[in-house]
Amino acid sequence: MSDLNTVNAAGGTDAFDALGALYEESARLPFREYLEHHSVREAVGDVTGLDALDLGCGSGLYTRRLAAWGAARVTGVDSSAGILATARAVERARPVGVRYVRADATRPAAAGVDGSTDLVLSVYVLCYARSEQELTAVLATARRALRPAGGRLVAVTLNPDYGRGAAYYAPYGFTLTQPEEREGAPVTLDALLPGGRLHVTAHWWSRKTYERAARAAGFADTSWSPLTVSPRGRRLLGDAYWSAYLRAPQALILEATVAS
Ligand SMILES: C[S@@+](CC[C@H](N)C(=O)[O-])C[C@H]1O[C@@H](n2cnc3c(N)ncnc32)[C@H](O)[C@@H]1O
Repeated sequence: MSDLNTVNAAGGTDAFDALGALYEESARLPFREYLEHHSVREAVGDVTGLDALDLGCGSGLYTRRLAAWGAARVTGVDSSAGILATARAVERARPVGVRYVRADATRPAAAGVDGSTDLVLSVYVLCYARSEQELTAVLATARRALRPAGGRLVAVTLNPDYGRGAAYYAPYGFTLTQPEEREGAPVTLDALLPGGRLHVTAHWWSRKTYERAARAAGFADTSWSPLTVSPRGRRLLGDAYWSAYLRAPQALILEATVAS
């Protein structure tokens, strides 16, 4: 894959340019550390020796984790120059052998992916697609990256059935606000972190839309699974702390496979 620098002006990810340090910090939010990280680790399984792509890698949290979990070759792709600068600075300071490419995943033909990847991981990226067409295009980039038989996408995305009401996730350190109930409706996440305020707007898509987009992108099968709390998260914070979150998790894992 070459560094194609393919982001167009309408790529829509400038919003992330200044957020690298905050995304690094957000890894310590309990739901990220004890639910999401744990659940992604379980979902990806044994990655030893694999060729992995972190699509929409942001500051590289999962790009580095894929390397730490044993993947042989790991590439992080993101369209935001600013957030990639953070990812690259972390790699320079504490090298783990991953590389970063700036590319727009809504442009499958230009994204430079080549069909040799075993696993595409994509954490909180699909829900930033602003139209079903963009959603399909991002999924098509993932599909195009994967090897023709046995390649697998593991994505974390906004749960269409997340808990409504601005305060629902306040005990977990963030709020979600969605003024309208319709396909593609904006959903704003706010989190106050020690380093500043994380304020980003995603989009609400139904399961049917994700599934239709995955099929249109060439995936054979899709399945959904909930996030689960790590034993450490349970021990440290207790079941009562997690119960509201688990009744209506804010995120789900969507897996999609290429025909085997
Ligand atoms: C919410 S952040 C998540 C970052 C990282 N995956 C994590 O879990 O910390 C979403 C990231 O997806 C990237 N992104 C969104 N749409 C993209 C696209 N079409 N092409 C490439 N990157 C995209 C954004 O620039 C941003 O860095």
